[in-house]
This record gives sequence, structure tokens and C-alpha cells, in this order.
Amino acid sequence: MASNHLKWESKQLATWYFTFAAIIFGAQLLFGLIAAIQYVMPGFLFEIVDFSIARILHINALVVWMVFAMIGSVYWLLPDETGIETVGIKIGKLLFWVFAAAIVVVVLVYLLVQVGPADETTIWFITEGREYIEAPRWADIGIVVVVLGFIGNLYATGMKGKPTGIVTVLMADMLAFAGIYLAGMFFTDNISVDQFWWWWVIHLWVEATWEVFVGAIAAYGLITMIGAHRKVVEMWLWIEVAMLFGSGILGMGHHYFWIGTPEYWWEIGALFSALEPLPLVAMFIHVLYDWGKQQGAAHQRGEEGSVITNKPAFTWFILQAFGNFLGAGVWGFFHTLPQVNLYTHGTQFTSAHGHLAFFGAYATILIGMMYVAIQGSNGIKVLKHTKSSIAAAWMIAGGVMGMTVALTIAGYVDVIVTRAQMGATWAGYFDGHSGMWMLQGMDWRLIMGVVTFLGFLFLIKDFLSTGKNAVHIR
Ligand code: HEM
Ligand code: HEM
Ligand SMILES: [Fe+2]
Repeated sequence: MASNHLKWESKQLATWYFTFAAIIFGAQLLFGLIAAIQYVMPGFLFEIVDFSIARILHINALVVWMVFAMIGSVYWLLPDETGIETVGIKIGKLLFWVFAAAIVVVVLVYLLVQVGPADETTIWFITEGREYIEAPRWADIGIVVVVLGFIGNLYATGMKGKPTGIVTVLMADMLAFAGIYLAGMFFTDNISVDQFWWWWVIHLWVEATWEVFVGAIAAYGLITMIGAHRKVVEMWLWIEVAMLFGSGILGMGHHYFWIGTPEYWWEIGALFSALEPLPLVAMFIHVLYDWGKQQGAAHQRGEEGSVITNKPAFTWFILQAFGNFLGAGVWGFFHTLPQVNLYTHGTQFTSAHGHLAFFGAYATILIGMMYVAIQGSNGIKVLKHTKSSIAAAWMIAGGVMGMTVALTIAGYVDVIVTRAQMGATWAGYFDGHSGMWMLQGMDWRLIMGVVTFLGFLFLIKDFLSTGKNAVHIR
């Protein structure tokens, strides 16, 4: 990502964050492929990169690249929103290198050391063993320092420059986003208590703070790409903030059904998590409605419709609206009632939801922001689709959707054979997991994973070549 056209240092730093994010995204997919191959060929890389290690790398890389791309997105939009250079940008640049180096070390330790003695040294230097946020404690503390620096910059800039609604929401949201991370840092001997707090990080990230974050990014994108009215998008943004924080916090009950917490969580979790999709639906309708209105107004003026200044980014933003709705809203709602979750808990169905939700709600819009940065940093007035950008969108979105369908079908076998028919017994697990539909589901997941990865290669090819081929403003 060339950055010679950038007058803002903040945007330059954003491109560093996006570049690192894209690399880690690639690593995420590679380790996903290894884990998927191991479902089909259990001996694959046995005792070299075991399933447990491939899985850790796959889902931690997922979180890391998304966090990098999120910080990158904020550094990118700050000068546009506030009208000033980001305050403390030099510190921001230094912290980027600290962050990136720490991540590289953590990855190398996961790969080369893998396991430690079952005592404090493991927690401090190898892994904390908490799904998605397994980084050892030294890295945890490092991450807190880096993120505090980032938040300091965001607040200083927001207070010195023009505090738009988008920036104000981001200021509140990023603080909550970072604060929640602390809940995953301490350790208790009681596994129920430990799980209870662990969910605060993961659930309150993806179902509250990250959703609000993408709301803010979508607002920024709609304003810059199709000239949406700030008043309209910001109004929706505030409504979403209120609704998501409300339903998200108590909706967390859907993770408290079977971990040893009191039974009143069944009712609380059922009710509030069932309400969670509402803001997602609102967000979805709002994006399409705004766009329709924009087009209608243009027609009345006798024009073709508004010029979309960045087609690939806009495509990914629209994919986000659909993906968030389907992955979080539909696939999430599916298993959120305790009556259903009793059977679906921890099956391939969970994995189907996890893939479509993370991809649909977050990967999409963050890829969109990478395109926004490519346009800006190359000084391109209107960024059009290329063959590669179209292939990338089809293959990545189609691949993940294909994996989701395969996992959903496999999930049904899990639910019906393992749980319903065989009563979740040891024998039932093996029956369920050796059935034809399960085995074929795992084959198809792998095939669709390969399609996704090929799409990723097109994406990178496009990232590296779009800037060169496009018509520049200057
Ligand atoms: C973009 C937002 C969301 C993302 C990224 C997401 C992601 C995930 C992931 C990765 C898991 C698996 C966690 C694990 O490893 O144990 C999970 C579990 C779950 N999610 Fe979501 N989710 C989102 C939104 C929702 C919503 C809105 C609902 C409900 C309407 C929901 C319902 C559930 C339930 C019930 C589980 C537990 C599944 C089980 O018991 O096995 N999710 N989610
Ligand atoms: C090359 C494409 C991919 C392949 C082959 C793949 C494969 C896998 C495999 C085998 C697992 C372990 C499942 C298990 O423990 O049973 C997994 C977990 C997971 N993957 Fe992927 N994956 C891919 C892409 C993605 C993408 C694009 C995302 C999201 C953006 C994603 C998000 C996740 C999540 C959230 C989990 C944990 C699910 C859970 O705990 O239920 N993966 N993936
Ligand atoms: Fe949740």
C-alpha cells in the first residue's frame, strides 16, 4: 500500500495497520486450512502443528487482524472527521511497531514452544489458554499499554478537533472495547467463574462494542462513498448504540446456560439475546434505505444515480449488511433459545454461526476499509472494480457461505444423531461424527475453505495492483 499521496500522517499509520492486518488475515486462513485438513485426514502434521495449535493460531489471528484493521480504520478516518492531524501520532507509530513485534513473538511461541509446564510460567510466557485471547500475560500487558496509547491519541484528537457524532461514538466505544479486555486477564480457580468473565470479553466485544464500531465505520463509509446525509446516519448510529448496549449486555445470558451459573440466566438469556438481532436488522434496513433514497433523489434530478466513489469498498460494505444480518441475526437467533441450545451447544452448528458472523459482520467491512485506504493513499478519485476485486469478493464471500452451509449440515447430524438420538453419550459422539453427512460436510468445508483462500490471493493481488492501474487525481 503506497502512501506517497498522503498528507496526513494518521492515514499513513493506518496503512501500516491495514498491511499488517492483511498479512495476519492470510495466516488465519492458512491455519484454518490446516485444521480443516485435520478433520479429513487426522494424521496431517501430527505432533508438528496439532489441531489444538492450528486452531489457536486460526482464531487468535482472526482477533488480532481484526483489531489491527479496526485501529487502522480509526486512524484513517480521524483526520477526515476532526479536520486535524491525529494528536500524538509519533507515539502511535512507535506503538504500532511494539504491537506488531509482540504479535510476531506470540505467534512464534505458539508455533515453536506450543505447551508449557502446568504452572504460572505458562500463563506468563506461553499461553493463558483462553479461547480467542490466548496471548500470554506479558503480551496482555503489552497490548493494554499499546491500546491505552491509541485511546489517548483518539481522545486528544477528538477533543482538539471537530467532535462529530462518529468520533464521539468511537471515543466511548473504544474505551469500552479496551476496558472489557481486562475481564479476560485475571484468573480464577473456579472454571465457572472463569468462563463467566471470559465471556465478557468475547461476547461483549462481538455483540456490543464491535457492532457499535462497525456502525460508526458504516456511517463514515456511507457519507464518504455515496454522500449520505450525516444527520440521518448519525441518528441511526445513536439508536444502535442504545439498543446494542442494552440487548448485548443481558443477551450474554445465552453463554451462561450450561456453565454452572444460576438457572435464571435461561430466561434472561433467552429474552435479551432474542432481541439482539433487532438492531442488526435496523442497521441492515438503514443501509439499503439510505442508498435507495440517495438513488431516488438522483433520479429526480435526472441523473444516473449517485456516483459510488469506491466500488470495491462499497461492495464489501453491502456484503457486511447482508453478512451481519445472516451470520449474527439469523444464524445467531437460530440457537439462542435455551430449548434449542440444549441440543446445538458446541456442535458444528456453533462453528457455522461463528464463521458467518465473524466474517459477515467484521471481515467484510474491514476489507472495505482497506479499499478505502488504497483509494486514498494512491490519490484515486473513483476506484472501480477490477477482475481481481470481483473474483475476490465472489470467492471469499461464496467460500465462507459454502463453509457455513457445509457446517450447518454437519451440525444437523451432530444435533440429531449425537444429541437427540444418542443422548450426548461418548458412543453417540462417534456415531454422529462418522456418519456420511458429517464426513461429507467436512470435505465440503475444506473445499470451500480452499475457494476462500484463492479468493484471498485475488484480494492481495488487487490490493497490490489497483493503485498502479487507476486514474489519479493528481
Ligand atoms: C457479529 C456478531 C456475532 C459474532 C461475531 C458471533 C460469534 C460467535 C462465536 C465465534 C461463537 C462460538 C464461541 C465459542 O467458541 O464457544 C458464538 C456462540 C454463540 N452465539 Fe454468537 N456471534 C455474534 C452474534 C450473535 C447473536 C446476535 C446471537 C443471538 C441472537 C448469537 C448467539 C450465539 C449463541 C447462542 C452462541 C453459543 C453457541 C453454543 O452454545 O455452542 N451470536 N458466537
Ligand atoms: C480458509 C478458510 C477457513 C477454514 C478452512 C477454516 C477452518 C476452521 C476450522 C477447522 C476451525 C476449527 C473448528 C472446530 O474447532 O471444530 C475453525 C474455527 C473457527 N474459524 Fe475458521 N476457517 C476458515 C476461515 C475463517 C474465517 C474467514 C473466519 C472469520 C472471519 C473464521 C472464523 C472462525 C471462528 C470464529 C472459529 C471458532 C468457531 C467456534 O469456536 O465455534 N474462519 N475454522
Ligand atoms: Fe453471544
